[in-house]
Amino acid sequence: MVNLPTIRFGREGLRLFALGIGTTWFGRHWPPDNPSYKLPTDEEIEVYLDRIFTTVKHQDAFLMIDTAASYGYSEEKIGSYFKNRQELFKKAFIATKWGEEFNIDTGMTPLDHSREHLIQSFKRSLEHLKRIDLLYIHRTSIEVLSDLEVIEELKKIRECNRGSVRYIGVSISNEDILQKAVQKNLLNWPDVLQIPASIFLKRPDLMDTICDRGINIVLNSPVRRGGSGSPEEIYSEILQHKGRFVLLTGTRRHLEDTIGYFCSAK
Ligand SMILES: NC(=O)c1ccc[n+]([C@@H]2O[C@H](COP(=O)([O-])OP(=O)(O)OC[C@H]3O[C@@H](n4cnc5c(N)ncnc54)[C@H](OP(=O)(O)O)[C@@H]3O)[C@@H](O)[C@H]2O)c1
Repeated sequence: MVNLPTIRFGREGLRLFALGIGTTWFGRHWPPDNPSYKLPTDEEIEVYLDRIFTTVKHQDAFLMIDTAASYGYSEEKIGSYFKNRQELFKKAFIATKWGEEFNIDTGMTPLDHSREHLIQSFKRSLEHLKRIDLLYIHRTSIEVLSDLEVIEELKKIRECNRGSVRYIGVSISNEDILQKAVQKNLLNWPDVLQIPASIFLKRPDLMDTICDRGINIVLNSPVRRGGSGSPEEIYSEILQHKGRFVLLTGTRRHLEDTIGYFCSAK
């Protein structure tokens, strides 16, 4: 039996597993440079999610499942997985994003950060997922962070607990945008910031400021964007800072190894 590390998250100190499940590969070609990618069958996704829930079933914590409106079929696949698994649904912490779309025919990912699109995208995500715990702005820019209509709408969603949303956040993949957002004091409302693991490692100064403001951190792409070295070495470097974040894995074939890195982290 393994014991996956947990962290305290959000204002209520919710207990979450430090390992979260990234699901881009559930719904669209991923990683982008993988020539042999094939869309998973429903059965593959069931086996995968059943495996992680079985591994952690003796522990009392929530498992973050990270998706987005722009992850192709991912939200739909997650919704249909939980349809007949209400007990597991209660143990899941569902995070999704809006602002980026994905065109399945062209592979293009256009952005629309308008308030109207937020309302439409949120409605569609909720139809797929049935409950959303955390809603992020995807591919966040300084412009959208300065758009008070959008920020007020997001806060309203959280305050009114629409779709069960309890947390709102921003996902930023660019270090310059993150730095400007902090300098301009534009991050005074999100509960959560999602960034690549590489920025976390490179900018401890920014991370301290963000933590001091009470913002929870979620890291993505540890292997794809985490630095050089083997996955084991990359995880070992990131997990030296464990306790400070939820780390999303995008592995399709190395889930056991990845769980092992968390359990053996000093
Ligand atoms: N907010 C954003 O803009 C954003 C951007 C990127 C990602 N994300 C989120 O973060 C999740 C994870 O991102 P990612 O897919 O880039 O993550 P990742 O964990 O870095 O995975 C990328 C690739 O590295 C390989 N890999 C991962 N763990 C491994 C291991 N233990 N051993 C050997 N190979 C390993 C995987 O190959 P195998 O499949 O063969 O194991 C995978 O194809 C996404 O699914 C998504 O939910 C968010």
